[in-house]
Amino acid sequence: MTASDSTVFRVTDLCVSLHDADAAARTMRNVPDDGCGVESPLWRPAIRGVSFEVNRGEVLSIVGESASGKTLSMYAAFRLLDPGAQATSGTVELFGQRVDAARGGEVVRKSGNTRRRGVPDDDDEWRQTVGSRVGFLFQDPIGSWTPHFTIGHQAGEALDEHTDLTPDEIERRVRDALGEVKLPRRGFGAFAFLLSRGEAQRAMLAAAIVKAPDLLIADEPLTGLDSTSAASVLALLRDMQDKRGMAMVFITHDLALAASFSDRIAIMYAGRLVETAPTQELMRRPRHPYTEGLIGALPMVGRDRLRPVRGSPPHLWHTAQGCSFAPRCDFTTEVCANVPPSVGVGEAASVACWLRDELSLQGILAGL
Ligand SMILES: Nc1ncnc2c1ncn2[C@@H]1O[C@H](COP(=O)(O)OP(=O)(O)OP(=O)(O)O)[C@@H](O)[C@H]1O
Ligand SMILES: [Mg+2]
Repeated sequence: MTASDSTVFRVTDLCVSLHDADAAARTMRNVPDDGCGVESPLWRPAIRGVSFEVNRGEVLSIVGESASGKTLSMYAAFRLLDPGAQATSGTVELFGQRVDAARGGEVVRKSGNTRRRGVPDDDDEWRQTVGSRVGFLFQDPIGSWTPHFTIGHQAGEALDEHTDLTPDEIERRVRDALGEVKLPRRGFGAFAFLLSRGEAQRAMLAAAIVKAPDLLIADEPLTGLDSTSAASVLALLRDMQDKRGMAMVFITHDLALAASFSDRIAIMYAGRLVETAPTQELMRRPRHPYTEGLIGALPMVGRDRLRPVRGSPPHLWHTAQGCSFAPRCDFTTEVCANVPPSVGVGEAASVACWLRDELSLQGILAGL
């Protein structure tokens, strides 16, 4: 099987803008659009040209600091954005079905003087694919459940909608899944707000695995779990992956956890993926100074003190012309501060850093 045959989920050049309701933004005219097609100063570029792919049976971790855009990118890829955000460009391929991210159901279009949600023609087929083959573990385990329906009812909804199983069979599958995540059987008839955060998280996992997904999007799946429950959830995820070749996108801010769990790691910084590489390679030979900084900040045996990355990340709305990491980087040049780095793509790894792109850098320096 070639790499492209086995790719189940691919995101290419995804750009997302956020609506800026702040009156101050109305006066702003010179937002760099990064090729992301921003229409008005009220929409600010936030996710800038994100590309990655996940192959069958593979775990790709997306690692980044809080508010770097991990969840937003994933919501955009699955057309789950609220009206405060819009995908402005990019494509998404899921099990061979390719859709235009900017034509997702979330897109707010102008119609005369009103704005309304547009639903693209390919939406039904897309939702069928997502509903039947993709499982989600959202970051907010309690808020992701509807308070008016029981866990059992909601966990069975995808099976009800996308399979021919009878209500009895669906109930049996849901109860089995709840048993697998070690949620007491009473979880079936419980409402989410009556569960602890950890229980709601495990119920979410049951809802994700009940339809035996081919792809699981796990957004900070261990948040709120004690260490024993976290270990059992990880073991369960690994088991599902091994037995059924399930692919997974594992979103976390914890690089050590990602390194222990994934085949490849993508590092996100201020709305961009700055480095993507196989796990061993990225941990042993980081190419981007930010990745190097994250590894240096990991607590390790024999390391007497932690070395945090100096400074703090910019807001996604930053208007920096060049590399967004430049203000925190020890190797910044004039080019870094003024020109966004292109993403150099190697056979298995990619990195967005002028330090690693000597050839283009020389060309730019010659033109300065
Ligand atoms: N619909 C929206 N409207 C306005 N701002 C938004 C919207 N969605 C996300 N944001 C902002 O975008 C930024 C990135 O959010 P995101 O949820 O992707 O962060 P994250 O990387 O997942 O962080 P964490 O690790 O804390 O979950 C945040 O500052 C958030 O407030
Ligand atoms: Mg998040």
